[in-house]
Amino acid sequence: MTRACVAVGGVNMGQGICDTPTPAVVKDAAKAAIDAGHSTYTRFDGVPELRTALAERLLAHNGLRFDAESEIVVTLGSAGAYICALNALLDPGDGIILFEPFYGYHLNAARVAGVVPSTVRLEAPAFAFDDAALRSALRPNTKAILVNTPMNPCGKVFTRAELERVADFAIEHDLLIFTDEVYEYLVYDGAEHVSVASIDRVADRTVTMGSYSKTFSITGWRIGFAAAPAALAEPIGLMNDLNYICAAAPLQHAVAAGVRQLPRGYYSDLAAEYQAKRDQFCGVLTEVGLTPVVPQGAYYVLADVSSLGLATAKEAAMTLLRDAGVASIAGSAFYDGGGEQLTRFCYAKSTADLDRACEQLRRWAARR
Ligand SMILES: Cc1ncc(COP(=O)(O)O)c(C=O)c1O
Repeated sequence: MTRACVAVGGVNMGQGICDTPTPAVVKDAAKAAIDAGHSTYTRFDGVPELRTALAERLLAHNGLRFDAESEIVVTLGSAGAYICALNALLDPGDGIILFEPFYGYHLNAARVAGVVPSTVRLEAPAFAFDDAALRSALRPNTKAILVNTPMNPCGKVFTRAELERVADFAIEHDLLIFTDEVYEYLVYDGAEHVSVASIDRVADRTVTMGSYSKTFSITGWRIGFAAAPAALAEPIGLMNDLNYICAAAPLQHAVAAGVRQLPRGYYSDLAAEYQAKRDQFCGVLTEVGLTPVVPQGAYYVLADVSSLGLATAKEAAMTLLRDAGVASIAGSAFYDGGGEQLTRFCYAKSTADLDRACEQLRRWAARR
């Protein structure tokens, strides 16, 4: 979609690129780290400055206690953390449960690792699930369950009660829990982000994956992490070493500076800014007949494209790109069969681009 969008000069609300500004302290620290000669390989699990900053942050913000020396691995984004966790902790033929709609990467990276996904379908608008649905996704080979909260693409924020149910299920069936919390700071309307590992009884079987891609608008820097008990973190670190050697050295220092120096207000301001963008864009979607499922977190929105009267989500997304000049991702990309009446927009756009997208959608609706 990004290529198709560039070809027509549209507004790219497809890929979760996130083109809001990077905080100055992070950019300045990157330049300073290059000038200071932080140019060589780092330890396989990252520089101590970043591991320590992450340990402090995870304790202060998430109530999670990790040892910076043995329980945190700096990875190439949370995507890198997931790849390493999959390959280090699961074997080909093992199964992993995903909640659907899912982030396609979670499905595809599992498949590439030879791990077999099964899904628990969450239905709009509440995206709730019951224990029977969890049980029906269980296979004899299931070894792990993946939680993504706040969730891409639907913006669901799992409640503590829901996570407790996932935790009990994981204990009952002896599953690892992989939790992708990259959007942890982007929660709206007073919703609370709960880290799965804060549920004590599953801390020993949980791999928490996070990143600063979204929080500092540095998706191209590829700095993320996995945090887990040493018995899980060590093989994840070895896999990170084997695949990548290490994450980019100067950028690790820059992220450490951001994690250390940015005040609490930075994170609440960020959430408020995205909430305003969400409200603006969801308002326009409603106005033009693409009814949104208003998200509680992350920076995506699923919109109902059934009013276009097309058979597939791909046709709908291509039609919106062609006729309104706004790119989105066909809902079918987030389902293993389904999502044909949905499309996903990413509203992590600059004000100018978001305004332009809103205006183009309004003009498109007026012409219909
Ligand atoms: C749910 C989710 N996890 C992980 C990623 C990848 O993030 P990172 O840049 O940290 O690898 C994305 C990117 O869109 C995402 O939506």
